[in-house]
Amino acid sequence: MKILGIESSCDETAAAVVEDGHRVLSEVVRSQVDLHARFGGVVPEIASRSHLEVILPVIEEALDRASMRTDDIDAIAVTHRPGLIGALLVGLAAAKALALATGKPLIGVDHIEAHTFASWMDAQKPPETPFVSLVVSGGHTSLFRLDDPFVPVEIGSTRDDAAGEAFDKVAAILGLGYPGGPAIDRVARGGDVTRFRFKPPVLGRTGPDFSFSGIKTAVLYQVTGQNSPRDPLPLTDENIRDLAASFQEAVVVALDRAAVAAVESCSAHALVVGGGCAANSRLREKLAESSEEQGFALYLPEMSRTTDNAAMIAGLGYHLFARRGADDLTLEAYATGQ
Ligand code: KG4
Ligand code: ZN
Repeated sequence: MKILGIESSCDETAAAVVEDGHRVLSEVVRSQVDLHARFGGVVPEIASRSHLEVILPVIEEALDRASMRTDDIDAIAVTHRPGLIGALLVGLAAAKALALATGKPLIGVDHIEAHTFASWMDAQKPPETPFVSLVVSGGHTSLFRLDDPFVPVEIGSTRDDAAGEAFDKVAAILGLGYPGGPAIDRVARGGDVTRFRFKPPVLGRTGPDFSFSGIKTAVLYQVTGQNSPRDPLPLTDENIRDLAASFQEAVVVALDRAAVAAVESCSAHALVVGGGCAANSRLREKLAESSEEQGFALYLPEMSRTTDNAAMIAGLGYHLFARRGADDLTLEAYATGQ
């Protein structure tokens, strides 16, 4: 079964054709990063307009690369939640129009569930249940327990900033540009993680929740010299390197601790990790160490499947269609998760 996937929930317009839930026949991702960079974050109205301009060319390119026409696909899967509502509506309207014109089934996919799925898509077989999923992106930082590989139950989330948002904001403080995650990951290599002691922000008392706004403020105060009898810290290459490394280490330790605690409390066999921050080299390294020490299986998506893409939407769409059939054309977009 060949499914066309469409993704437009944030600042990537993406389309892909995936066969039987795992074989990627084609994949196109058009990023809007350049349009948003000067604002230091995603501007919703700019995102919607840009999706509108490129959605059809992106879909056509995905079909072309798979040497297919709309008649050759068996179904259309589309992200319909959560995300920027105007951005979601562009992909959803395109998917509905295609479904109506071709008579092919329409399948609504949850973006966060797709990030979880992306980590085991290539393995073809879901991890043994129960397993825990950590989704770390620009908009979300959540832990889920899965007793059924397609039904995540949230057991912890961030109380303020998402991890990726903290990376982006700290990168802005350090003058590293947008998006901040890849920039911090790069400059942190070779930095001294012990020079600044930012406390890993795990709340822990009420469950595996996260909080990242405090650590972001701690970096800001370190740079401005605020809140202590200290001069501002000049942003030399060495200081930026050490600040980036110390900040990244604190975030990674927080994510690792909470994920390991969740694996233990759920008696889980595996941890799957998805979302843009799953590309972080230090996080991947730390989680690999924990999986070895604690004896749980670790599923990390390949790098191109960490950030937003449509292959994960088409892939998960295949499984959802097999389980619950198609949605109808009244399918709506929602800014929030389930
Ligand atoms: O999943 P994604 O593409 O979009 C959302 O659904 O939010 O995630 C984007 C986020 C951004 O905040 C970006 O800074 C972060 O993922 N990111 C990283 C890395 N690559 C991307 N964060 C840390 N380290 C990275 N290497
Ligand atoms: Zn995402």
